[in-house]
Amino acid sequence: MAIKKELKFPKGFLWGSAVSAHQVEGNNVNSDWWEWEQKGGGKEHSGTACNFYNRYEEDIKIVRDLNQNAFRLSLEWARIEPGMGEFSKKEMEHYREILKSLKDKGITTFVTIHHFTNPIWFANLGGWENCKSSKYFSRYVKYCAHHFEDLVDLWITVNEPTVYAGQSYLLGLWPPQKKNFLRACRVFLNMIEAYNKTSLSLKKPHGIAHNIPRFTGSKNPLDLLLAKSLNFIFLDIPILLCLKKQDFIGVNYYSQFKIKNGKFSFDYLLGRTDMEWPIAPEGLYKILLNLKKYKKPIYITENGCADSQDKIRKFYIKEHLKAAHMAIENGVDVRGYFYWSLIDNFEWHWGFKPRFGLVEIDRRNNLKRKIRKSAKCYSKVCEENLMKP
Ligand code: BGC
Repeated sequence: MAIKKELKFPKGFLWGSAVSAHQVEGNNVNSDWWEWEQKGGGKEHSGTACNFYNRYEEDIKIVRDLNQNAFRLSLEWARIEPGMGEFSKKEMEHYREILKSLKDKGITTFVTIHHFTNPIWFANLGGWENCKSSKYFSRYVKYCAHHFEDLVDLWITVNEPTVYAGQSYLLGLWPPQKKNFLRACRVFLNMIEAYNKTSLSLKKPHGIAHNIPRFTGSKNPLDLLLAKSLNFIFLDIPILLCLKKQDFIGVNYYSQFKIKNGKFSFDYLLGRTDMEWPIAPEGLYKILLNLKKYKKPIYITENGCADSQDKIRKFYIKEHLKAAHMAIENGVDVRGYFYWSLIDNFEWHWGFKPRFGLVEIDRRNNLKRKIRKSAKCYSKVCEENLMKP
């Protein structure tokens, strides 16, 4: 549906894009993911990824040139604490340089402390299954608070605990590739405990980036009940478990599912992405409305599509922004939008094939950055704080 008038966003709205350390930095040699890739895990090896580790200045300049006023990135635990209790001064300085560079350009820093990867020593101790995991994580978080907080505007302590627990401990797709429901629950609860435990160490506003899919049911009462229960499990439970300690709610939105006669399928309302994920902005709208009851500021900390030809990205962004705007008009306190991702990156077990970037990375030409057309359209919205018809 075309928009008829300009859609203005609230003053101070954060416009940005997001990346995570392992997906862009390259050579994350002390992490469990690297070790797993070395043994043949996943479709491809992350290798030098996008070499963001050395090319961050170039990428931050792109963020600025694209008129984004905020950037979401993650710190890599395996670099900062490569051995148990051993912290690397060199890496601490490295991340400070990145954060300084963002601050110097007036960019709001949204910093994730844990985005799926762990140091090898932590994984060897049983990772997030270990009942002491939150204790080990707390020490790292305290270190981050102490060394980076002056340069951080907003923290995301953990990214998508449901996805991490699900992919690594239920579906067995990510290291340590276990398939056990009870273990997955334990991992999820330990991550939530770690979040709650570390909340006091962080003075700046902090929250979790929750991956929230939406489920709809056919008219069949059982399908409706199933959809309702799943919406409660994915949206409410992770939030309720740490409600008081979240200064804001982070929403990562990618998909809507429909349930018919107990069977699940993607809801391809407005089409599909290269990964066959659906384009269903309605889901984002409904999720935002549903979150209103928690009376917390909301940031859309991830939303984006794999689209190697850049054919649908502009449409995808516009439609999701329309949904966010409609939620704002209905009284939801949405304060920012972060497109996933700034650059084409290492998409976990799928490798480099899915192309989510506003900026293309030419893997055959020295990882050359090339701004996509859709990035320029998004840049206009960021610049004007409004979306034109
Ligand atoms: C994750 C990102 C990932 C994206 C697309 C999100 O769930 O936080 O790391 O790249 O999905 O697959």
